[in-house]
Amino acid sequence: MSKPKILLTRKWPEEAESKAKELFDVTLNEDDHKMSVEELQDAMKNYDAVCPTVSDFQINSEILNVENRRCKLLANFGVGFNNIDTDAAKEAGVVVTNTPEVLTDCTADIAMTLLLMVSRRAAEGERLIRNKQWDGWCPTHFLASKPTGKKLGFIGFGRIAQAVAQKAHFGFGMQISFYDPYPPSDEVIKKYSATKFDTVEEVLKDADYVTLHCPGGGANTNLMNAERFAMMKNTAFLINTARGDVVDEPALVQALKDGAIAGAGLDVFAKEPNVTEDLLTMDNVVMLPHLGSATTETRVAMGLRSLGNVEQFFNDEEPGDRVA
Ligand code: DGY
Repeated sequence: MSKPKILLTRKWPEEAESKAKELFDVTLNEDDHKMSVEELQDAMKNYDAVCPTVSDFQINSEILNVENRRCKLLANFGVGFNNIDTDAAKEAGVVVTNTPEVLTDCTADIAMTLLLMVSRRAAEGERLIRNKQWDGWCPTHFLASKPTGKKLGFIGFGRIAQAVAQKAHFGFGMQISFYDPYPPSDEVIKKYSATKFDTVEEVLKDADYVTLHCPGGGANTNLMNAERFAMMKNTAFLINTARGDVVDEPALVQALKDGAIAGAGLDVFAKEPNVTEDLLTMDNVVMLPHLGSATTETRVAMGLRSLGNVEQFFNDEEPGDRVA
């Protein structure tokens, strides 16, 4: 039997691409360009499976509903899959999978990195040294906010959030609270001595740090809006490693300008790779270029996980990470 023909829409780490070559008749994106809508439409006609990712154009009905579509599986490289219109995929009868678990720790590490950096003014301090502006130590220099023992509130308390709670609670003695429409078991709640709130608002009013861990798109678009920023403590920080569209960026800028909140640590943005201009000039904002899962170990594991789903699908098994 001939091997399934698959396309990786972006360049993957070498180890994962080698595995793809071993298992499938694979086409790589050698120059790592962002594929056009036309290229993605052609991919639908020419491949049995496509492995897309977060920075692609969204795979929607315009792309899926090409004539003579051959593609039966979208094996996403990434845990978040808002780059795929899952309703359109379902309607077209195309299966969708993602890559959970393998990026949990690394994404949680980046949430902690942002929390510590913005709280302790680490990026500001580093800029000071690089700009040769440091005059030396003094008792009042660069005073910041102490994270140890403070209240950390989660919007969404799934796998990545729990990994953040593990580090923050047991490493930094932080007090955990969360809102999640699908809360975890009592055992998990007990493990982190967490407070479960019934609304987003209760978390926002209570927390010294608010960290976002809900999916992007749909009802979560602009979940953090002007009204909700106004509910946060003016000493509190916002951390976002989820999806950029969960935050209304102009409202965030206004909240920072008004001093409604103390600062923000952002790994994701509403219109990546474009970043709202005002944020670039704010010292109390720390920004990273969507690095959550960006370690060699994790990106290889994501590739292998995506390929595992392709293997299962073409072996007529239910793919382990099917999401639609
Ligand atoms: C994810 O897996 O969702 C990361 O944000 C990269 O896409």
